[in-house]
Amino acid sequence: MSRLVAPSLLAADFTNLKQDVEMINKSEADWLHMDVMDGVFVPNISFGMPVIAAVHAISVKPLDVHLMIVQPERYIDAFKEAGAYLLNVHYEASPHLHRTVESIHQKGMKAGVTLNPHTSVNLLEDILPDLDLVLIMSVNPGFGGQKFIENSYDKVSRLKDLILKRNSKALIEIDGGVTSANARQLYDAGADVLVAGSYVFNDSNPTEAIKALKKA
Ligand code: DX5
Ligand code: ZN
Repeated sequence: MSRLVAPSLLAADFTNLKQDVEMINKSEADWLHMDVMDGVFVPNISFGMPVIAAVHAISVKPLDVHLMIVQPERYIDAFKEAGAYLLNVHYEASPHLHRTVESIHQKGMKAGVTLNPHTSVNLLEDILPDLDLVLIMSVNPGFGGQKFIENSYDKVSRLKDLILKRNSKALIEIDGGVTSANARQLYDAGADVLVAGSYVFNDSNPTEAIKALKKA
């Protein structure tokens, strides 16, 4: 079981992005989480490839890219070029998920599948052996700073059982409303990677907030 932390750049200061990326570089964070929103799959628009490429040029942490977009398969090459280490596509946005995952692997990236809060982990049974990661949304995607959905703990445990049953090596990642108050319970339920946006960047000492998640 790993205990990785991926601060989400969505909550960073966009007028001082370099400073925030350098803070993450020097911190105990394992990955840097980047949220791409298209205004169609989710009711919000964030940033795209140019911002990812710019961050990639100065980040020493691997980029964990979370695509909240329709037809993510159209942009696999572009996100590889921008510097993604891991590409997360939503189950709900990709009807030919097996092909999408294969294409991500062919480009040399890790492949993750993300589930909205209402989507059952059981739907992943047949694709789990092909995945590097499953991202469970613990809020409805589209915005930072929302309240953690309590059902997520149970969902993590059920996913963990399924991963063991299918002999999958997939990591479990949680995104939305993560703080030091729920981190321990998430790790205990089987989570390997915690994403945190507002908890990290709203803290007066973000480096310490990252440390608190690692040590939860
Ligand atoms: C929400 C994004 C999250 C967001 C998390 O759609 O996927 O990554 O940045 O923000 P917090 O940690 O504030 O809930
Ligand atoms: Zn995210």
